[in-house]
Amino acid sequence: MRYGTFDDEHREYVITNPKTPVKWINYIGTLEFGGIVDHTGGGIVCKGDPALNRITKYIPQNPASDFKGETLYLRLHNHPGYKVFSPFFVPTLDAYDKYECHVGLSYQRIVSEFYGIRTQVTIFVPLGAHVVVRDIQITNISPVPKMLDVIPVVEYSHFDALKQLTNADWVPQTMTVDAVSDRFGHVIHRQYAFMKKNTAINYFTSNYTVDSWETDRKLFLGDNEYGTWKDPQALHKVRLSNHQARRGDNISALLHCLGTLQPGETRRIVTQLGQAQNIDAALDSIMRFRNPSNVDQAFDALHSFWDGYLATLQAQTPDAAFNSMVNVHNPRQCHTTVNWSRDLSLYQLGFGGRGMGFRDSSQDIMGAMAHMPDVCLALLQKLLSVQKADGSAMHQFYASTMEANEGDSREKPGHRFYGDDHLWVVLAVCAYLKETGTFDLLDQEIPYYEKGVPLDQRPRGTVLDHLERALAFTKAQRGRHGLPLLGFADWNDTVNLPGKAESLFVANQYALALREIIALMEHLGRNDRCAQYQADYEEMREAINIHAWDGDWYVRYFEEDGTPLGSSTNEHGKIYVNSQSWAVLSGVAPEERAHKAMDSVQRLLNTRFGIKLSWPGFHSFDPSKGGITTYPPGAKENGGVFLHTNPWCMIAETMLGRGDQAFQYYQQINPATRNDAIDQYECEPYSYPQNILGNEHPQFGLARNSWLSGTASWTYQAATQYILGVRPTYKGLLIDPCIPRAWKDYTVRRQFRGCQYVVTVHNPKGVCKGVRTVVVDGAALEGNVVPVFQDGATHTVEVTLEA
Ligand code: NOJ
Repeated sequence: MRYGTFDDEHREYVITNPKTPVKWINYIGTLEFGGIVDHTGGGIVCKGDPALNRITKYIPQNPASDFKGETLYLRLHNHPGYKVFSPFFVPTLDAYDKYECHVGLSYQRIVSEFYGIRTQVTIFVPLGAHVVVRDIQITNISPVPKMLDVIPVVEYSHFDALKQLTNADWVPQTMTVDAVSDRFGHVIHRQYAFMKKNTAINYFTSNYTVDSWETDRKLFLGDNEYGTWKDPQALHKVRLSNHQARRGDNISALLHCLGTLQPGETRRIVTQLGQAQNIDAALDSIMRFRNPSNVDQAFDALHSFWDGYLATLQAQTPDAAFNSMVNVHNPRQCHTTVNWSRDLSLYQLGFGGRGMGFRDSSQDIMGAMAHMPDVCLALLQKLLSVQKADGSAMHQFYASTMEANEGDSREKPGHRFYGDDHLWVVLAVCAYLKETGTFDLLDQEIPYYEKGVPLDQRPRGTVLDHLERALAFTKAQRGRHGLPLLGFADWNDTVNLPGKAESLFVANQYALALREIIALMEHLGRNDRCAQYQADYEEMREAINIHAWDGDWYVRYFEEDGTPLGSSTNEHGKIYVNSQSWAVLSGVAPEERAHKAMDSVQRLLNTRFGIKLSWPGFHSFDPSKGGITTYPPGAKENGGVFLHTNPWCMIAETMLGRGDQAFQYYQQINPATRNDAIDQYECEPYSYPQNILGNEHPQFGLARNSWLSGTASWTYQAATQYILGVRPTYKGLLIDPCIPRAWKDYTVRRQFRGCQYVVTVHNPKGVCKGVRTVVVDGAALEGNVVPVFQDGATHTVEVTLEA
């Protein structure tokens, strides 16, 4: 079944049936202030940190029909009583004449028609503001006058999100809402936990006269809370109680009586849910967004931000679903992962214990650095500041406090590191330098992380020193085959082998990082450093090829005693995808092995829903293998389609020149292609999920954990840099497409180092790869690296392919 359509012109996805298989969400604002809005208007809002500063109470595990965080009620005066309904469908579930949720770029717009009333609510966080604006426009579309009241409602969370769920005495004893009136007579609700009274208050207000209000959930729902969100008893009384809650489950409900709306008449009410130190500090912002024309301006500014962001790269190819994702939804998801890492979604609930992931954020910024280099640089610097002086990295950190931890590796004595974390930052820094050309970053000093030591007393090193220590750490931590130690885990968090197990993922990642650093040193003319790194690379390449080739593919791990995992000799986990794709990415696999390994992926791991992480799945819990065996076969890392790994196969296939195969891998996980029959898949068609159940599972094809996945960054890199083949290098923009044979022409507009490059690729002979000519601004170019022009102008690049 289909629940909506792509509206590429407006860069929206429009949901037209609210009963989607699971909630489909959108993000508003940023981690600094913002959160999630689902397609029925419920929302999680937080400031700076979803665990430590949460504003609304949204419990995703409750049924989809329940109130969650925020909603809006309307009530029609049906003398003698009222007809109460929500224009968001949830929680009143009335029959609608029309329902549309426009999932836009950092805004959600719900347009519905119930009982002759058309409601349009646009929900967004104005750029740089600490407030969620809900711009409510209500029109009487019936032929008769209607008397109407409007009641927006928020339910607050304790700022400590987990405490809210774990303590039902202390939390409610601390929660307070009072109502103040500003000098214009508008009501402002001020909500706070007692200990934050003087430091952080949440406020809720509108630009319209408030008749009465409620702050206590029990009173609002009525009947000792045997009243429901579907039909709150307070809404059947003429007025709300104006009770100021001194404890309990805090809400804000503001009753606005609009009076009579004539046929065709529209009213506009703007609500604001914000946070500030106190009301005085918020007043300017409150006054600003009380004025609808300022709301319009803020909305336009948001639009302009996204225009600029997306203008970084726009492609026109023969494939509409590819265009939708590459031009809008995929770069947008990259923006989301940079902001929220793996912290807050409807699957990663942001209750603490996690924060930003070191490896995750390092990869996330690689997908967005062309679009928002400054934001990515700031995050990169944070990441480097949680790297330790021995070169390894802390696994997670909280962006608001910069406190870092070792993740689950704390639990494995002698392995307080992940094999891969620190190496990601080498790749991220190199990618940043290729994009921006700001090589002086390498000389910038950044402290190393030392728990408990004040920042200014921590050891420091230049960024280059950080990278070199990362490489040195891996070089020093190797096992019996000379391959890097796994530590607690590598990219695959769930294979946790005891003792000094070795990882082929880390081996290839290390080899790739060495290649990157060699290219960087060569570019900077620091050839003295290249020889040693080249020798390290050769040594690793040899170790991998001597010990890890299994006949048809590369093994994935060696246990401490030398037993392989990911080998034809294993009963479970015979083959893992990452040791194949990464042997190609790193350049370690000789050509014949590279083809064989990727053919094995195609033969043994590929499904119509994507490539599985491994096969066959483990059938029972085995602590000696780790978390992977906590899942049934076909789920998540235990043989599921773990999407993050798929773009690595796309990239590997382009490196082998197999453009049809690369594109098939792209297309089969493109959520936009699922739009017309999505019930088996369930998640949003406009964002990549983290995982899809594999074909060893009875619910093969079911997606979960949408939005916050490294799939976003890597699929974007695969699509733009390797399939479309427009790839930043230190020297300029490399043009090296690898496309399906059927594509005859396509265009990419790419902003790079201050210029606009309009690249048109012609494929008259229907090949996958092979640049024959490149003509830049009418002149033939030698090679296929378009130089960096420093003139800020637009340059045309005509490319012709031929095998
Ligand atoms: C999700 C984690 O966020 C990511 O860091 C990890 O690489 C994958 N799971 C695979 O285990």
